[in-house]
Amino acid sequence: MKTKFEKNILCIGAGYVGGPTMAMIAYKCPQYRVTVVDISHKRIAEWNSDKLPVYEPGLDEIVKSVKGKNLFFSTEIEKGVKDSDIIFVSVNTPTKSFGVGAGMAADLQYWEKTARQILQSAESPKIIVEKSTLPVKTALAMERILTSNNSRIHFEVLSNPEFLAEGTAIQDLENPDRVLIGSNQTENGLKARDVLVEIYKNWVPSDRIITSDIWSSELSKLVANAFLSQRISSINSISALCEKTDADITTVARAVGFDSRIGNKYLNASVGFGGSCFNKDILNLVYLCRHYGLYEVADYWEGVVKINEYQMGRFVLNMLTSMFNTLTGKKISLFGFAFKANTGDTRESPAIFIAKRLVEEKAELVITDPEALQNARIDLKNIDGKVSFIEDPYDAAAGCHAIALVTEWDLYKNLDFEKIYRSMIKPAFIFDGRNILDHNRLFEIGFNIYPIGKPALTHFE
Ligand code: UDX
Ligand code: ADP
Repeated sequence: MKTKFEKNILCIGAGYVGGPTMAMIAYKCPQYRVTVVDISHKRIAEWNSDKLPVYEPGLDEIVKSVKGKNLFFSTEIEKGVKDSDIIFVSVNTPTKSFGVGAGMAADLQYWEKTARQILQSAESPKIIVEKSTLPVKTALAMERILTSNNSRIHFEVLSNPEFLAEGTAIQDLENPDRVLIGSNQTENGLKARDVLVEIYKNWVPSDRIITSDIWSSELSKLVANAFLSQRISSINSISALCEKTDADITTVARAVGFDSRIGNKYLNASVGFGGSCFNKDILNLVYLCRHYGLYEVADYWEGVVKINEYQMGRFVLNMLTSMFNTLTGKKISLFGFAFKANTGDTRESPAIFIAKRLVEEKAELVITDPEALQNARIDLKNIDGKVSFIEDPYDAAAGCHAIALVTEWDLYKNLDFEKIYRSMIKPAFIFDGRNILDHNRLFEIGFNIYPIGKPALTHFE
């Protein structure tokens, strides 16, 4: 296909990573034509509508400014492959739920299908950019599939892990800490790498573009996520100690974070981390280490996941013991269901675990969230208990015994809690799983307050 564009870029997979990343490339590089394809007709229809399938601050504006000009969403995968010079692969790689490595290793079925699709449809050389989080050595497997039928066509595989976080994806894409590109250290590999470097150089300063071999690049992504989640588990583990000893986790985190060697980010104690990456990536790392016989290393990283599970369990247990050891028939409102604020994504959200545990205790749940109710309904559709979904937090709290704040949405900080208190059953409880509320004020209103890693404020003797 001859067009006025300098390059034809294709992205396979129109999800949380593929959609925003390609929108940014199209926005920053009007000289390139960017097409995003997906097997899901529904997803593509949503990208082509005014209501995008991904809620991300700032994304609507960017997509609107380039859609139909140099950004296109389509289900024509074969045509997309034929027409492109560079193919980003951004399909999902969930944790395997069956067979060898179940619950740990990455499920590569979508990814392998994509590799075969590229092989079938390509009529000219391509650069394949691995964008999904994949375990180490997957690029090699991709290369093997692509050269499997002695194809005359040359495919050069690059690793270019995405570090964006949901809720801040646009900022992260526009102003990344670094862009990492792994390539084969051969003449062809380095040439392909330079093509990708050129794309990013349209808006990313050269000193933030790091290049390496493929394996180091893939591993770096797993390790970055392992380190980030390790910090959260570290602070969460100390929050348990604070609760036992009346220390304040916010003070401890602040004092520790002032050490410039440690830094103050990712030290917010919480109900636990969620999201599609952290759990999956650590478990991948653990699986890899076990595979190579590094049992001590595997156990070390597995501890991060175990503390996260412990933290979520502890939150529910604390609710149970504080509310007189029974939740049966009690009405509890979950404030927030997304795995973090500013996203509608609920993958691996602590809210799912908490909701299920509370229902096991025979509590009645009212879920509220400004963006995630649609996903929450899907996550809890098979749950055997009383669960309702209400967008308005005042309506959600009315008639409840307790509020469990699970997601740190700003809107929860500024609610009229006097009004909420009046509408609830007494004694009224708030379990602040994110430490975002003004605890002293809520206590004065009459609530019994249970933060994370701080002494509870209760009106009981
Ligand atoms: C993460 C990485 O940050 C990103 O670089 C990678 O590309 C994908 O995985 P994401 O999962 O979107 O991004 O969100 P992130 O902001 O990292 O938060 C993950 C979880 O940790 C959330 O549940 C969040 O609430 C929790 N968290 C984060 C804490 O509990 N405390 C903190 O201090 C920070
Ligand atoms: P991520 O958070 O990694 O972006 P998502 O699940 O949001 O993950 O998006 C992955 C997308 O990849 C989904 O929209 C899914 O339909 C799509 N996908 C999976 N397999 C294929 C495939 N073989 N061809 C095209 N798209 C695919």
